Amino acid sequence: MTVATQTPTPSHANGPKAAPKPNPQWFSQTGRPDSEYPYQGLLPTWDTKKYPPLTAFEHTDPGLGAKRHRDRRAFLAHAHTDIDDLTPDFGTEVSGLQLTELDTVGREQLALYVAERGVVVFRDQDFVEADPHWQITDWGAFFGRPHIHPVSGHPRDLPELHLVYRNEDGSTTHTETETLNGARWHSDVTYEQQPPGHTALFLYDAPPSGGDTGYADQRAAYRRLSPGFAAYLETLSVVHSGIEQAAHAAKNGVPARREPVENVHPLVRRHPVTGEKALFVNRQFARRIVGLKEEESAALLSLLFDHVEKGSDFQIRVRWKPRTVVLWDNRITAHNANVDFGLGSRRHGARITSQAERPFI
Ligand code: SIN
Repeated sequence: MTVATQTPTPSHANGPKAAPKPNPQWFSQTGRPDSEYPYQGLLPTWDTKKYPPLTAFEHTDPGLGAKRHRDRRAFLAHAHTDIDDLTPDFGTEVSGLQLTELDTVGREQLALYVAERGVVVFRDQDFVEADPHWQITDWGAFFGRPHIHPVSGHPRDLPELHLVYRNEDGSTTHTETETLNGARWHSDVTYEQQPPGHTALFLYDAPPSGGDTGYADQRAAYRRLSPGFAAYLETLSVVHSGIEQAAHAAKNGVPARREPVENVHPLVRRHPVTGEKALFVNRQFARRIVGLKEEESAALLSLLFDHVEKGSDFQIRVRWKPRTVVLWDNRITAHNANVDFGLGSRRHGARITSQAERPFI
């Protein structure tokens, strides 16, 4: 058994390095035998490395830097950039700029923009084909500490690349047979003491249709509450647990890389850059409200989960296209991958999940 080390704490000091030249092969590879699949080297693997518990680190959000800029959205001001808000307050689609070309100033403005819009969809990105080491150590580390998932598959020797993967014969699948639908709304790994903020997801291969990702605005979910109820919720804390996820993986023969953890976070959290408040609960990991009786906690959590998941008037749905990169802020959003496509399609993508500050209100 090998004991691995944790990803170093990020530093912005030296600024971004240019992304290495992209690999020209991209996307829509479904139907090719695995031996011809150009992203074979990025298929999920599980090794036996064990990692020590995560240690605390100080997170300074790069979005704070942009608050000092005169034009906080200057990075979008290119003649060819097209900006399409998906709803007035939540979610934007951008085309005509390359994420790989942003310098430190551009990345700081991007961090602020994602914190404001919640989710930003970037189309036609050479980022998808960039060297994964650059994606992790230059891109991901700029926005926070790249997280190593305790149980998910990753490409060999690239543990910070969390893979989402469903293969063509359905044998690696998250489709549920014991529930009426496969919806699994969540924010990522909220059981960590310092859960992620800025997060990037991109697909190497996707079904011709379906497999969209839904996002919910947890700030709007908070704002819809009546003032007295919201004020009460702000006094509460919630236990988030990684134990069930680890147990589920173990049942499928996947041992955890790190011992599963539980952490207590405020039920309403404040964003460190925008100051906005958001509900911080999700059905996948929020387990109980501290200090309430079992039934009180269960009823209250159930109400909040339903509120977030049913609020189609504060949700968006992202359709994947080749070379799309979706950036979101996990502190203020929840999401759900729709497994609505059948056998014969592969959905293969990677998430870079940058850990942020310990939640506070
Ligand atoms: C995730 O849960 O982070 C991945 C979402 C997706 O596969 O669309």
